[in-house]
Formats: sequence, C-alpha cells, structure tokens
Amino acid sequence: MKRYLMNGRVINPATNQDDYLDVKLEDNRITEVGKHLIPENGSEILDVEGCFVLPGFIDLHVHLRDPGLIHKEDMESGSRAAAKGGFTTVCAMPNTLPVIDTVNRLSYVQERAKKCSGIHIEQISAVTMEQKGTELVDMKAMSEHGAIGFSEDGQSVADVALYADAMKQAAELDVLIMAHCEDKKLLRGGVLNEGVASKRFGVPGISHAVEDIIAARDIFLANDYGTRLHLCHCSTAGSVELVRMAKKMGVHVTAEVCPHHFTMTDEDITYEDANFKMNPPLRTKADVQALIQGLQDGTIDAIASDHAPHSVEEKSKGFLHSPFGIVGLETSAALSYHTLVAGGVLTPMQWVEKMSWNPSRIIRIDQERGSVEVGKLADIMIWDPKAEYPVNVNEFVSKSKNSPYAGRRVTGRVVMTICEGNIVYQDASYAVSDGV
Ligand code: DOR
Repeated sequence: MKRYLMNGRVINPATNQDDYLDVKLEDNRITEVGKHLIPENGSEILDVEGCFVLPGFIDLHVHLRDPGLIHKEDMESGSRAAAKGGFTTVCAMPNTLPVIDTVNRLSYVQERAKKCSGIHIEQISAVTMEQKGTELVDMKAMSEHGAIGFSEDGQSVADVALYADAMKQAAELDVLIMAHCEDKKLLRGGVLNEGVASKRFGVPGISHAVEDIIAARDIFLANDYGTRLHLCHCSTAGSVELVRMAKKMGVHVTAEVCPHHFTMTDEDITYEDANFKMNPPLRTKADVQALIQGLQDGTIDAIASDHAPHSVEEKSKGFLHSPFGIVGLETSAALSYHTLVAGGVLTPMQWVEKMSWNPSRIIRIDQERGSVEVGKLADIMIWDPKAEYPVNVNEFVSKSKNSPYAGRRVTGRVVMTICEGNIVYQDASYAVSDGV
C-alpha cells in the first residue's frame, strides 16, 4: 500500500526541518520525503495543504487502567483516545490492579496491547512489588521483557535506602527511572495547593516541599549512581530549578510537565468540581511562569498528559474524597499548542520536540519513531493549526470525561493519526482523502 501526504508543512526536530514537503508512505515505513513528489499510479493521495505533518506524538505518562480498573479506561478505549489526541506511542503507568510488577503481568499487558490497540503501547514497570515500597521488582527480568522504564507513579518509594538500591540497579542495567516526586508523610491529607486556595476553601494543602524534597532526593541519588532519571509531572518552580541545576551538574536527568500545570493555577479551581483535583495539584502563577521558562530554555524536555481517567461516580465525591487525576489524551496537543505556540512561547518546532522527538529519545525508541524521515516507521500526525473551538468532553472517546477543560477554547486540531502506515484516527470534518 502506497500513500502520499501532499503539500503539508513538515516540522521535524530530528532533522531540524520545517518546510513544505511531500511524504510517501509504503506499508509501515516512510520511503520518501521531498518537494513535488510525483505519486505512483494506484497509490492513495492525501492533500494536507494548510496542515502540519508531524512525527506521531509520544506520551510518556498515561494511565490505561488495564488490568483491573477497566470501568475507568481499558486498552482499547485508551488507545482510541490516544489516537484521537495525535499519539502513536503512549507509556502506560503500572498502578493497575494488579500492579505491573512481574513478567507475567507485563506479558498480559503486552498481549492485550497487541490485540486491542492500533498504536504502540509501552508498559512501565513498578519499582517495588505491589508498589508497597518494601521489595524491589526483578528489574533485570522486567527490562529484558520490554518494560520501557520503572516508576512508582501515584506513590514515591519512601525508603531511601531501598530506592538507592533501585537507582543503582537501574544504572547497571541502563534503564530509566521515571520518578513521581511526592513525600507522602508531608502530604498530610492535602487535596490542593497549599496557600491561597487551601485557605479559601478551608482544606488541607499540598506544600511545594512535598514535591521538591523528593525531586532533590532523587536527583542526588541518580547523581551518585549515574542513573538515567526522568522526573514526572513537575509542577513547582523548585523542581524546575532543581532539574536546571542537575543538568548543569551533569546528572542524566530529563523532565516532563503536564498541560494542566502550565495552563491553570490554583486560582482557577472551582471547588465544587473535583475535576480540578489532581496530583501534583494546580500551583501558583509563579510556578506556571517557571514551568514555561523551563520549557523555553530546554530545562523541561517533554510534555506528558498524565491521562488519569476516573468515573463520574468516583469524581462526584467532592474535592476532599474524590481520587486525584484528570483525563488528558484528547486535550494535551490542543492545550499545549494553544498556550505555547499560538501564545508565542514556543516555536512549532520546539513544541514538536517536546511532544515527540524528545520523548522518543528519553525512552530510546528514536531509531524507529519520533521522526518524519526516510526509513522510519510511518507514525505520523496531521495537525490543523488554524482550527479554533471549545473543548467538548462529550466527544471524548475515552471511557472517562473527568476534565476541567469543558468549554475552554483551544487552537489546533488533530486531523489524522497514522501508526505504522495505518490510519488509526481521522477527523470526520476534514475531507483530506482523494485516492487515485
Ligand atoms: O492525579 C494523579 N492521578 N496523579 C497520580 O500520580 C496518579 C494518577 C492516577 O493514577 O489516578
């Protein structure tokens, strides 16, 4: 099967290319990128004039809830949400039921992913058995069976000595630690940022130190052992500064931020709506500025959604009792494009770098993915940069709708997502196909 993407603007950080180019896909590969390609007879031609042609986006941080929590999401619905959001690769966190902490459980997810998903699903292993923080998983076996990284997401490993052992092993195995930075004791039942908002609503707050202390701890552990460390969902000015310092020190550290942390502050919280509750919480204006500065100067490498689906029932228990988390796969690209690119903070190239190229390098899949380049997998996203519309949560294909962005106006829309040459999502309102 031959398919041509004609007249689009290819933006490809891997080759530092931003140009009007045609792209030829043959079966699951990109076989030609150039000016004025002449399509072969019998091939399919997609005219994508006015659109960006991008490497398929890669989300380093999602919760697919499969196995065990499939009333929130499952492999199939999560994959469809990802494809609709422009993602061709997502990394699933291990805090499922059971936790992904053995090779058997890892194989289960990998099999499910093969069967029910049109995109690439990479699985992250837990750091400790059942995420209980007392015994390390068999890191060697998990990495040999394809775990893309190790994370205790939703928790942190409180026992520093045990975590040091994990960091040491990770360095020896040359695998990635993806750190959720949170001191659970210091959390003290907090539900939103400590400060103006926690005072206004009279509820326990989550201090900045809850995150910063563990970010610092993890950076220094990684420094001691030479571990590859990735900090998940940085939300504070402090953690950005720590990453900046660590990079200067030569620590192998990378970091991600989530769209909600740079598009909202704790002042935007509607207390009656637990869809504003996530962990880490929405922070202050100064934090948002620091995150944006970090994105601009390269301290922050990636944007990840932390897609955390929860049912309506679970989220209707009020701010104090609802679970932390919001969905993000279907809004991540438009929220970040709107705020960062349309908002004049990042160039389109820098945005694509954070959404695809850098993530592919962090998890070392860049030999095959993350670039619109001859020989790479045909993982591609077509983006309309001019579309403007309000977020409609009822159109989400995720099983869960727990988003605080209902009605929020955004810029940019996914027109089509192609994974290994297959069209896995196409927006119905665009007629881009006129096969020959
Ligand atoms: O808000 C969050 N939700 N933060 C996490 O770290 C975990 C996640 C979840 O699993 O729901």
